[in-house]
Amino acid sequence: MASKLSLNSTVKLISGYEMPLLGFGVYQTPKAECTDICKEALRIGYRHIDSASDYYNQGPAGASVAASGIPRNEVFFTTKVPMRRYPLSYENTVKLVDMALEETKLGYLDLVLIHSPYGGPENRKGAWRALVESVEAGKVRSIGVSNYGVHHLDELEQYIAQLETERGGKGKGGIISVGQWEVHPWLTRPDIVQWCRARGIVVQAYSPLLRAKRFGDPKVMALAEKYGKTEAQILLRWSLQRGLVPLVKSVKASRIAENAGLYDFELTEADVEDLATTEYISYAWDPTVEPLGA
Ligand SMILES: NC(=O)c1ccc[n+]([C@@H]2O[C@H](COP(=O)([O-])OP(=O)(O)OC[C@H]3O[C@@H](n4cnc5c(N)ncnc54)[C@H](OP(=O)(O)O)[C@@H]3O)[C@@H](O)[C@H]2O)c1
Repeated sequence: MASKLSLNSTVKLISGYEMPLLGFGVYQTPKAECTDICKEALRIGYRHIDSASDYYNQGPAGASVAASGIPRNEVFFTTKVPMRRYPLSYENTVKLVDMALEETKLGYLDLVLIHSPYGGPENRKGAWRALVESVEAGKVRSIGVSNYGVHHLDELEQYIAQLETERGGKGKGGIISVGQWEVHPWLTRPDIVQWCRARGIVVQAYSPLLRAKRFGDPKVMALAEKYGKTEAQILLRWSLQRGLVPLVKSVKASRIAENAGLYDFELTEADVEDLATTEYISYAWDPTVEPLGA
């Protein structure tokens, strides 16, 4: 996969839809500037926007698609539920999917993820059932989860089997197409990635630049020097070559362009392997470790 990657590269999800391999994140992007910033990303060539109800900017992010003049079906748009105002539940998931459609005016959502497992078993199940129904209603194309630990994933898999029995067979419990976690060389999450790969679930990697908090690492700097690229480009290329879908955020045009400049070089397999550590350092949050009751 590594050698032929381009900004147009996509991966086919189990749902049958294609997802562009480089995502543009909007966490903490100011609402007032979000349309213009996403429009700039689309102008540069990104075709995948990662938002969330909880980022309070999904409307402006969605508006960038129409503002860009790019056909709706050429942009992959993600949002997540729940948001702080509406804790995880069946009812709130129904409401938040409708709110996202209304705010973004996109007609349908390419991907909706359960943002985190917080809420307890019954609410996680309820939220999943609401997402399954939103797919059946044509509001959402693909669904998945974010920040689930393996124990939460196992619980969901059991629930899907239960729904299939209750609702009339294979597929009726919904399909986990995508999972989203903080992943980078200091948090490779082998257990979760393996769980997903065994089932054909695509893994998105958030905070691929470690929120810019670890620039200056000697190994990354040495690779930047070797390839004549920036540290950000090395980290993003690492993510792509690990078979992940990196979601990268910037509000600055020069960095938005820099972060897409990943396709004129290729790390060797040894470089990719050597950069990965067995450390477990989270720069964002880490609900994966929460017990099922949380
Ligand atoms: N599911 C979840 O729970 C979850 C959690 C976190 C993130 N996410 C998603 O993943 C996306 C990315 O993660 P993230 O925002 O946490 O972190 P990130 O993309 O690793 O880092 C963003 C930070 O790096 C800076 N930056 C960007 N490009 C740079 C470059 N080329 N050189 C130097 N600094 C650079 C940005 O500043 P400027 O903006 O000033 O350029 C910002 O401070 C989010 O926007 C969101 O969509 C999801």
